[in-house]
This record gives sequence, structure tokens and C-alpha cells, in this order.
Amino acid sequence: MAEQQLQNDRLLRAAKGLPVDRPPMWVMRQAGRYLPEYNQVKGERDFFDVCRDPEIASTITLQPIERYQPLIDAAIIFSDILVVPQALGMTVEMVEKRGPVFPEPLRHPSDVAKLRKEVDVQAELGYVFDAIRETRKKLAGRVPLFGFVGAPWTLMSYMIEGGGSKMFTEIKRWIFMWPEESRALLQRITDVVVEFLARQVEAGAQIIQVFDSWAGELAPHDFRTFSLPYLRQISARLPERLQELGLDRVPMTVFAKGAWYALDDLCDSGYDTVGLDWTHDPAEAVKIARGRVTLQGNLDPNTLYGGREAITRGVERMIRGFAGAKSRYIVNLGHGITPGVNPEDLKWFFEEVVRVGTEVYQE
Ligand code: CP3
Repeated sequence: MAEQQLQNDRLLRAAKGLPVDRPPMWVMRQAGRYLPEYNQVKGERDFFDVCRDPEIASTITLQPIERYQPLIDAAIIFSDILVVPQALGMTVEMVEKRGPVFPEPLRHPSDVAKLRKEVDVQAELGYVFDAIRETRKKLAGRVPLFGFVGAPWTLMSYMIEGGGSKMFTEIKRWIFMWPEESRALLQRITDVVVEFLARQVEAGAQIIQVFDSWAGELAPHDFRTFSLPYLRQISARLPERLQELGLDRVPMTVFAKGAWYALDDLCDSGYDTVGLDWTHDPAEAVKIARGRVTLQGNLDPNTLYGGREAITRGVERMIRGFAGAKSRYIVNLGHGITPGVNPEDLKWFFEEVVRVGTEVYQE
């Protein structure tokens, strides 16, 4: 692959702790249903069929970049965290208005026998690598590209609950009734996740993010038992695997939604960047982080429904709150953008980040 010169390295610089002119920004789920052009391209197609089509997946990845250029500082590959359970042999369907559904969730440790013993990541997830290669060509160096995975805890939760959940009784039954079997399953998922990330980097991902969307369901002690060790394994093993493949290390981000109690631990878990949801007070988070990592976040995504003045107030508070992080800061929402947002309101958010961010970074 001919390496295109990266024209905007603001985000990679901030992830590495280097000075920047303003905080870089992107938003989780930036390629998705709030964009009319996404709904048009997706049409009636099955969600996972779209993920498996590198031409369409790369087109969708670029939609927010093109609509908002030059405001967004990174792209994130259009895919889903649930492609890993699929690679492990599980069926996952995306049901309109309901979200992901696993027709045959793992309800007992004996069900683990139904998973593939050996996962050939290249064969099962090759379409993600093709989509990444295609996206890098289309981006032509405009902004860096994120690869991503689901964290082992969040993936195991989906595999056992069988979809989204409010009560989390099935997954909690597992960890409390069968802790050893839970750890064995988390380990199997971790092994696939490390290889999957390494191959995403090989294909062209320039930074990666691990999404632990359900971390906040765990008590602090259980987070340290069933999530953190696997997050640490990923950050330790990915650079080693990249080295074996003859590839350079890339910045790594962890986003453990709801695990505000674990921020101090997460700052020591081997990641360059720690993503924050909106329940963190920015200045408090900066104090806890003590310059160990770059912080990313954290405006409540529903602020985007509050109109322009509310967005401006939110942006001001957020950027001034994180000012103590100096340039170890990346702007994002505290979780993914939701389907009802008006794309013009997101544009206003981006413009206000540029205005306020430039001002604050010149002070
Ligand atoms: O733009 C991007 O951020 C990249 C693409 C991306 C998607 N999913 C596309 C998607 C990313 C990074 C994800 C990650 C993901 N998927 C997470 C972690 C982030 C988070 O939100 O916590 C999780 C938990 C999933 C699982 C998942 N996929 C759910 C719960 C849903 C349903 C969501 C809903 O609101 O109904 C999906 C579907 C999904 N993934 C969509 C998109 C654009 C919507 C699918 C559609 O078009 O119908």
C-alpha cells in the first residue's frame, strides 16, 4: 500500500501527549442513522451485510468526514463490536428497532462447546480488513482511521444475555455461579480480540479503541476481576503481536462506560487514551489522571437535543473543564450519537469546539 502522508495528525499527536493547536475531535457512532446519507445508502439492507461489503462500509465511514470536513479529526471504521461473537461461531441478527439479537445465547458453561475452538481471524473477519484498506485509500490521508473492538466483558455479556439487557441477570448468574468458567470464556474472547486488533492495524488502522460499553454494570471489585485484567492483557499483548508482525505500535484507547470508579486504575492499564462518559466531572478526571494518559470525552450526547445555546454552554464547560489536561485531551461525546440528532446541530457542536478550543489553547 502506498503510504499517503497524513495531512491532519492532530488526534494522533494528542493521543501521544504532543502539543496541538486545538483539541482534536470525533464522535462515537459518527457514521450512523442520524445522517440521511447513511439511511439512504443502507436502505433496506441487512446491517451485517453492509458491514461485510467493503465498498459500502468504506463509503459510510467517509460520510461524516465529507459532510463536516475539515472539522472532524478522525474516521472510525464502519463495523460492529458483535462481529467477534460471529467469528466465534454465534449467530447475531440486527433487528429493526430492537437492536442485536442472538437466537442461541450461551446460557450454561456447557454451551461454550458450541463455539469454534480455533478462530481463523483472517478467514472470518477478512471483510473488516478489506474495508479498512478500502477506507484508507478513500481517505487519502485526510484524517487517521480508528480500528476498534468490543471489550471481553461487554462481548461476553452480549453472548450470554443474547442482546441488549436491562437486568443483566444471565451474565451476573454466570460470573457469580461459574467464575472459573467465566474467566475461561473471557480469555478465549481476549485471544481473538488481540489478533483481530493486530490485523486491523496491519490493514491500516492508525489508532484503536476498545469499547467496554457495559463496564458500568459491574461493582468495582467485579470490574477488577472480570473486565480490567482482560483490558490490560489487550494493551500488553497488542504491541507484542504487532512487533511479531513487523508493525509499529499504534495509540490505544479504552472506553469503559459507567466505570467512573475505575478511572485511576484505567490510567495505569497500559492505554494511551482513556475515554470518559458524561458522568465524569472534567476537572475531577484531570486531577485523577495526573497527566498519565490523554482523556477523551465527554459531553452528554443528549445535549445535542437542547438547541444551540445549550450546546455552546456544554462545549464551554467541557473544554474549560479539561483545560488542565493541557493538550492531553480529545473531544468526544460521552457515548455514541443517537439517531434523532439533527446533523446541523452536530455541526454547531463541532464549530463551537473549534472556536472555544482554539481560544482556550491560546490562553
Ligand atoms: O461510527 C462509528 O462509531 C463506527 C461504527 C460502530 C457501530 N457500532 C455501527 C452501528 C461502532 C464503533 C459500533 C460499536 C458498538 N456496537 C458498540 C460499542 C459502542 C457503544 O455504543 O457502546 C455496541 C454496544 C454495539 C452493539 C450494537 N450495534 C447495538 C447495541 C446496536 C443497536 C443500536 C441501536 O441504537 O439500535 C448496533 C447497531 C449499529 N451499530 C448501528 C450502527 C450504525 C445501527 C444499525 C442500523 O443502521 O440499524
